[in-house]
Amino acid sequence: MCGITGFTGGGDAIRRVTKGLYALEYRGYDSAGISFFSGSAVNVVKTSGRVYMLEKKLCACGSPSSSCAIGHTRWATHGAPSETNAHPHKYGAAALVHNGIIENSGELKKAYGVRTVSETDTEVAAAVIDRNFAESGDGVEAMLRASRVFIGSYALVALFDGLPGKIYASKFKSPLLIGVSPDGYYIASDTAAMAPDTRSYIELCDGDVCEITREGYTIKNADGDTVSRAEHVISHLADELQTGIFDHHMRKEISDEPAALKKTLGRRLCGGELTFEGDGITDGELKKINGLTVVACGTAYHAGLMAKHYIERTCKIPVNVVIASEFIYGDPLIEKGDTAVFITQSGETADTLAAMNLSKERGAHTVAVVNVVGSTAARTADTVIYTDAGKEIAVASTKAYTVQCATLMALGARMAYAKGLIGQDGLKTASHALYEELAASIDDVISREAGIAAAARRYHTAENLFFIGRGADYYAGLEASLKLKEISYIHSEAYAAGELKHGTLSLVTEKTPVIALMTDARLYEKTMSSVREASARGADVFVVCPPDLARDDSVNTRFELPTCRREILPVAAATVFQLFAYHVALMRGCDIDKPRNLAKSVTVE
Ligand code: M6R
Repeated sequence: MCGITGFTGGGDAIRRVTKGLYALEYRGYDSAGISFFSGSAVNVVKTSGRVYMLEKKLCACGSPSSSCAIGHTRWATHGAPSETNAHPHKYGAAALVHNGIIENSGELKKAYGVRTVSETDTEVAAAVIDRNFAESGDGVEAMLRASRVFIGSYALVALFDGLPGKIYASKFKSPLLIGVSPDGYYIASDTAAMAPDTRSYIELCDGDVCEITREGYTIKNADGDTVSRAEHVISHLADELQTGIFDHHMRKEISDEPAALKKTLGRRLCGGELTFEGDGITDGELKKINGLTVVACGTAYHAGLMAKHYIERTCKIPVNVVIASEFIYGDPLIEKGDTAVFITQSGETADTLAAMNLSKERGAHTVAVVNVVGSTAARTADTVIYTDAGKEIAVASTKAYTVQCATLMALGARMAYAKGLIGQDGLKTASHALYEELAASIDDVISREAGIAAAARRYHTAENLFFIGRGADYYAGLEASLKLKEISYIHSEAYAAGELKHGTLSLVTEKTPVIALMTDARLYEKTMSSVREASARGADVFVVCPPDLARDDSVNTRFELPTCRREILPVAAATVFQLFAYHVALMRGCDIDKPRNLAKSVTVE
């Protein structure tokens, strides 16, 4: 949540920081700001709205240049998205940008007698840092002393009047990295904000404080001792951050799905059989698992539901899928010896991390299914299963979901084999379905995008819409509905098809299209009854189903799924609904990659 970047060195730091802010907009984009040195004084330029508005404002200010600057793009937590609340906050000599929350800002405000103009905790933090700077005359000392009174989670980056060219930073429970580039140093919440020539990065640890100049950096731990931290080679490819031939990251990321699946499962294939030995998960361990708790948020939670459907059927064990924010406060039934799986694309979602920590405290074995290498979830969990979806930039998760579903289903197939519930042939068939058939099916869906766009044209003016399905199709509907709401702002609900008549059918009229997913021929007649009930109330019905099904008068629009194994069809159908949401949002003129009020990485509980 929120993005931080800063640079000190050769060339124009303001231009570099502005570019970095564009790359970080996926973390929050309701306001943006920048601080830079003119001589030895720190200036601040900020605005509500997007980074391009900040750029315009900088132009209006005479396009200043500087060799040292810091910047921030915000997702509002304390206070409305406004220019006053935008970062950096200048208090006395200190200009500060902040990710996270200072939970005791109210008490600190009173204790330090701070008068603020904004509604933010960050301005209070700037005042505390400024007081410590005034007393010590030293940037590192100011950050260290302030860290000792802050409660909460934070990545803080500051400039001080009178210390030109120097950037100071501290962090606790919120990521902060120093980037090493040929002509200077970055400080950023994410490597995405660093120029492509940045070779490596150093990840600060909780409690660390650092000073960065164009010549180098020093890091002190919470006790004030100078420490060295490991340097990592930057692994992301610069072109992962571009949209390529596509107009939006979301559309590009949908097209990435087949390759992401192949990459993730390919490295777990051995002689045509999926195995998790490379992740440190043996068949012996899988055999002993008698139940799973799966915890996640949003789209990742929906991937957990899809996994539940598959694993319960193939492994005959109960899978309890819980929304992370509910898990933490629901006195969860988790104890020593249990296995808890946490699904998270970013590996930084605060609710999921809190649930993981609680499970660890209770003695459960924690497994993270995570996309970002080295993320907090990956570092915290006892066992890590990486998905290789590549960087996902669009706020709406697409390829991460598909890959999460496939990875967890692969784990289920291996577990069923380990338990003797399927033989080697069964495992090979499941492995082939997940590795080959799913990728091919998604390719096929994408190749018929025009049909999905045509359906989107028919339904894009709706203001309310229902998704219905049974079993895994209901779970797929939950994700389809979230995707549509998230980027097109159409209100939609997903219902278990049989449940519609128990109350919700009262909402169905000619103004509420109903989209039915029917991947399971065994449930076809039952779901068709629900379709007919909706159609009889005037609903325009769109059915997504295998070839030749649902040729019925009650159906207005059809999209045929490819022919493939039934188990993987609900996952392939996700791509249909991702493209549907994309085209609907496009036709409604929505900001697809950056929907209103949202951010990619939700690092607050
Ligand atoms: O990074 P995570 O997978 O932990 O994120 C969880 C949710 O915030 C995320 O899946 C969210 O629901 C998506 N943006 C929806 O498209």
